Amino acid sequence: MAKKPSAAPMTDAATDAAQPNYKIEYREIQPFGTLKDLPLGLESNARAASVDALNQVLADTMTLRDLYKKHHWQMSGATFYQLHLLLDKHYEAQAELVDSIAERVMTLGGLSLAMAPDVADATRIPRPPKGREDVPTQLARLLEAHELILRYARDAAEAAADAGDSGTDDLLISEVVRTNELQVWFIAEHLAETNLTRGQA
Ligand SMILES: [Fe+2]
Repeated sequence: MAKKPSAAPMTDAATDAAQPNYKIEYREIQPFGTLKDLPLGLESNARAASVDALNQVLADTMTLRDLYKKHHWQMSGATFYQLHLLLDKHYEAQAELVDSIAERVMTLGGLSLAMAPDVADATRIPRPPKGREDVPTQLARLLEAHELILRYARDAAEAAADAGDSGTDDLLISEVVRTNELQVWFIAEHLAETNLTRGQA
């Protein structure tokens, strides 16, 4: 019977200096809702107002992003493949927006919302059922969420511009508003009447 190769014998034990200390005491260094001072040439009240507004847009955008994934997975019907792909494309664009908005909050010295339970508390987008809805309902939910974000983002952009925060104004208009407007067009066109499933000649 072949002899199994034996592992090299352990010699000296690792020293204490090599042993990671996993018993870390958790420590928060910036409470949520506070503002860090940064030399941005912007008044703290302007930055605070932008941080609040951006966190609202962030919570709603994260919710819309996830709504896109839900409907990407739960799509059905004659246009399944087309919508399955389109909704994933929109999901990706919303995910990019999420990162831009969150990083703008941090740039201003604030703290961005991040975790699902906090997002669920903050968002104004109605929670959909866990179950699968028909295609017009899925699309209508997406359009409703887009409109809610668009109305809020335009007002927030104007307020930021008035307060001298043109960087936030630019992000909200150039990225958030434009992306949402384009996605509304693509989704809304799918709600035009077609003969695909109505059995007409
Ligand atoms: Fe997928």
